[in-house]
Amino acid sequence: MSANVLLVEHPAPHVVLLRINRPEALNALNAEVREAINTTLPRLDADPEVRCVVLAGSEKSFAAGADIKERAGMSAVDVMKMSTTRGIAVFSKPIIAAVNGFALGGGCEYALQCDIVVANDRARFGQPEIKLGLVPGAGGTQRLPRVVGKHNAMYMVLTGNMVSAQDALRMGLVCEVVEGNCDARAIELAAQIAAMAPLTARLIKEAVNSGADMALDAALRLETRAHQLAFATEDVREGIAAFIEKRQARFGGN
Ligand code: CAA
Repeated sequence: MSANVLLVEHPAPHVVLLRINRPEALNALNAEVREAINTTLPRLDADPEVRCVVLAGSEKSFAAGADIKERAGMSAVDVMKMSTTRGIAVFSKPIIAAVNGFALGGGCEYALQCDIVVANDRARFGQPEIKLGLVPGAGGTQRLPRVVGKHNAMYMVLTGNMVSAQDALRMGLVCEVVEGNCDARAIELAAQIAAMAPLTARLIKEAVNSGADMALDAALRLETRAHQLAFATEDVREGIAAFIEKRQARFGGN
C-alpha cells in the first residue's frame, strides 16, 4: 500500500484531519483508499488524544465515488469479496466531512456517514451510480432518504443528477456552505468540539445515531441512560465548576 493516498494532518489540538489524496483521479475511492481509511480510523478511535476528526479531499474533489476503472473488470464475486468502508460509520468520535468540489457516489455516501457536513460553494453532491447501471452500495438508498427525505433522495438516486451546495444545504445534507475552501471552517468546528468533554461527545453521538433506528420511547430511554452516565465523568464536575466559577472549562477526558 503506498502511504500517501490518505494524508494524516494535525491542524489543531486533539483534531486529526484525514485527507484523501488522489487528486489526479478526483479522489476516486480505490482499494488503497478504502483500506487506508479502514485501518486509520480504528487507530484514531483508540487514541485518547484524538477527540474529533475531519475527513477532507482536495481542492476540486472530496471524492468522485468508487474507482470506476478499478471496478471495470470485476465480477459479482470480486465485488462480494471487496472490503467496504465500515470505518466511518462505526467511528465512535465526532467526524466532520469537509466537502470541496465533488462528493459523488461513494464520496457522497462517505459524507453521509459523517456527523456534520460543511461544503464549499462549488461543491456538487450526487449519486450517479444509476448512470453506470449500478445501485448505490454504501448508504445512498438508505442514509440519503433518512437525511434529505424520500423525494429528494429519489431525485438524486434515480436521475443521477448532481445537486449544488446551496440545494444540499436546503435539503439538510449540508450544515454550512463556505465560499472558497471549507477546510478551515471544518477544522474550526472540530477544534470547538475537541474542546468539549470527549466522553460526553461520544455519548451524544451514540444517542443520536442509535436512537435514530429505535422507537421514540426506547430512544428516549437510551438518552436518559446516556445523560445519567455522563454524570459519572470527572468532566461533568469540571464543566459545572467552571460555570459557577465563571471560567473556561478544561475537560481532561475522564
Ligand atoms: N473513478 C475513476 N476515475 C475517475 C473517477 C472515478 N469515479 N472520477 C473521475 N476520475 C478520473 C477521470 O477518469 C480522469 O482521469 P484521466 O484524466 O486519467 O482520464 C480524472 O479523474 C479527471 O476526471 P474528468 O476528466 O472526468 O473531470 P471532469 O471535471 O471533466 O468531470 C466528473 C468530473 C463529473 C466528476 C467526472 O469525472 C465523473 O463523472 N466521474 C465519475 C463519477 C461517478 O460516476 N461516481 C460514482 C462511482 S460508482 C460508486 O461510487 C458506487 C458506490 O456506491 C460505492
